[in-house]
Amino acid sequence: MHKSTFFKYIYNVKKIQLLLLIILFCATACKNEDAAYSDPRGNDYSGAQSCVQCHNDISHSAMVTAHFKATAPATSKNVLGDFTHPKNIFDYGNGSHMAMEKRGDSLFQVWYKDGKKRVEHSFDIVFGGQNAQTSVFWNNFNTFELPVSYYQAAARWGTSPGFSNTEPNFDRKVIKDCFACHSSNVRNVDPGLGSSEQKAFANDVEDVIRKDKIIYGIDCERCHGPAKKHVNFHLKFPEVKVAREITSFKGMNRQQKLDACSICHAGSDGMKMKSRFDFRPGDELADFYRPMSPEVDVHGNQHGMLTQSKCFTKSPAMNCTTCHDAHSNAASDPASYSAICSGCHTGVKHSEKTKASVSSRQLASNCVDCHMPNQQSRAISFHTSYASPLYNYQLRTHKIAVYPGTNDPR
Ligand code: HEC
Ligand code: HEC
Ligand code: HEC
Ligand code: HEC
Ligand code: HEC
Ligand code: HEC
Ligand code: HEC
Repeated sequence: MHKSTFFKYIYNVKKIQLLLLIILFCATACKNEDAAYSDPRGNDYSGAQSCVQCHNDISHSAMVTAHFKATAPATSKNVLGDFTHPKNIFDYGNGSHMAMEKRGDSLFQVWYKDGKKRVEHSFDIVFGGQNAQTSVFWNNFNTFELPVSYYQAAARWGTSPGFSNTEPNFDRKVIKDCFACHSSNVRNVDPGLGSSEQKAFANDVEDVIRKDKIIYGIDCERCHGPAKKHVNFHLKFPEVKVAREITSFKGMNRQQKLDACSICHAGSDGMKMKSRFDFRPGDELADFYRPMSPEVDVHGNQHGMLTQSKCFTKSPAMNCTTCHDAHSNAASDPASYSAICSGCHTGVKHSEKTKASVSSRQLASNCVDCHMPNQQSRAISFHTSYASPLYNYQLRTHKIAVYPGTNDPR
């Protein structure tokens, strides 16, 4: 071996060793440090993954809720519904049908007419999953709703809300407002800037959805506001056990607490003043959105329903977290709510007629089936084929009241 090549060889080995050393250093020292993570909302956001190290229990609970899954990539793991023949068929009649098809890991809605394939689109993003699921496909910077959705209560495919049951239609744009309640970001922002500087620059008038900027679902910072400073502070001062650099819900008044939920739970047919994406805890709903219609639907408007209840108007503190844990799904056990009702209503004296209609155990443990019964949504309904009736979507009303007929024996 020539001398100089030998030295080059040694030199190269050193370079490789140095590189290995750097990699090794990063693998250990940079492990917790999310320095490489750049949040699409701006450099004052830190991302949900960064919270786990200090808020392990809350994170593990919150990350499996409907909020975190309010939108998701439409993989076969995330999309519900049967893709096997014949349950994958939505029949439009007249030799026309939609087939839900699975090819490898991709899912498609394929429209056939007279035995021929006419149009097909892939499932790209899925909305929901608790009661219903709707998917959308990409077309440039916009998303479009697939004509067929899945309904849990019926365990069937059905028309997406407002779609025809005799012919499909692939041109309904799913606007940014849907994402403003179902995701944490779709906007085109500069990750080098803070979120407040972004507001000045972000062209929010433009109704485009940025694929590369999506943060699926409603994450920690969607409800708590940007938390990078909070994270950095507590990483630097682990001995400080009092929260710093984060908005606390504890000091908020009832209106603020309510509005932090109602920004997405007070309906969407009113007047919009600002993008819901710009809402931060402590802000007022009235600066963003004002309900216009006196008609309040059980779907999407728990705020409108609850605020009509005497429980709400006559008690100064009641808000959404009186009955819901922000980091869990709604409890499905009626008894857990009854305990909350009974916290305010001690010694309710029901009439003899009411008492005779159910067992005393039912009366004590299931207040909600009588006072918050399931009701039909006027906004959402669907068909399961061209020949099926129109089914109504059912949700629990948040208008707590006495409902005639609910004392019938069940
Ligand atoms: C390095 C540790 C650390 C990280 C990382 C961290 N936090 Fe915290 N956080 C704390 C400490 C300490 C407190 C105060 C004690 C407590 O309430 O648990 C706190 C409290 C909070 C509170 C309660 C504030 C109050 O006073 O009501 C919220 C909300 C919060 N953190 C949100 C977040 C979010 C969101 C993230 C992720 C983006 C996050 N934290 C990441 C350490 C951390
Ligand atoms: C950024 C919008 C947004 C905010 C803020 C928000 N929610 Fe939601 N919430 C949603 C959406 C969207 C769904 C439906 C998610 C799904 O099923 O896909 C939902 C679902 C729920 C559910 C039903 C979960 C289940 O069990 O099916 C409850 C309960 C709930 N939210 C309560 C709250 C409370 C309480 C707050 C305030 C602390 C809040 N939400 C704040 C958008 C929001
Ligand atoms: C739907 C909105 C929402 C989401 C999503 C959410 N939080 Fe919260 N969080 C709240 C509300 C509201 C409170 C105040 C609860 C109360 O006062 O009962 C809270 C309280 C907290 C607290 C203080 C707890 C305490 O007992 O004082 C911490 C810490 C926290 N959240 C962290 C997180 C982390 C971490 C995530 C994500 C993994 C997250 N939150 C996701 C709404 C939310
Ligand atoms: C103002 C906020 C808001 C807007 C805007 C909004 N949603 Fe929702 N959406 C909700 C809430 C809250 C729920 C869950 C509770 C309910 O149905 O009241 C929900 C439920 C759903 C569900 C059923 C979720 C489940 O788990 O059962 C689907 C699917 C859905 N929305 C799709 C959409 C689509 C598509 C759009 C746009 C056309 C849209 N949403 C616009 C707030 C909103
Ligand atoms: C924070 C306290 C509080 C909670 C929690 C609460 N309520 Fe109430 N509720 C009240 C108050 C105050 C009134 C008004 C009483 C009056 O007018 O004298 C009321 C009124 C009612 C009424 C009469 C309504 C009417 O229109 O005449 C019913 C029924 C009722 N509550 C049932 C319930 C049920 C069921 C729950 C649980 C799902 C519940 N409440 C939870 C405080 C509460
Ligand atoms: C007095 C108790 C109470 C209060 C206050 C309350 N909820 Fe609920 N909520 C319930 C009950 C009961 C259910 C039904 C749970 C079930 O049967 O699975 C429910 C269900 C929900 C659901 C799931 C959709 C549905 O209808 O099944 C959403 C979303 C929701 N609540 C949001 C909210 C929001 C937002 C607020 C504040 C504006 C709020 N709730 C205040 C008791 C309450
Ligand atoms: C089987 C249905 C049913 C159940 C279960 C039930 N209620 Fe009632 N409740 C009624 C009916 C009907 C009335 C009105 C007639 C009467 O007083 O019996 C009423 C009346 C009330 C009133 C008084 C309203 C007024 O204006 O005077 C309150 C408060 C109330 N219920 C709370 C509760 C609470 C809290 C629970 C659970 C611990 C509960 N109810 C369980 C059907 C029911």
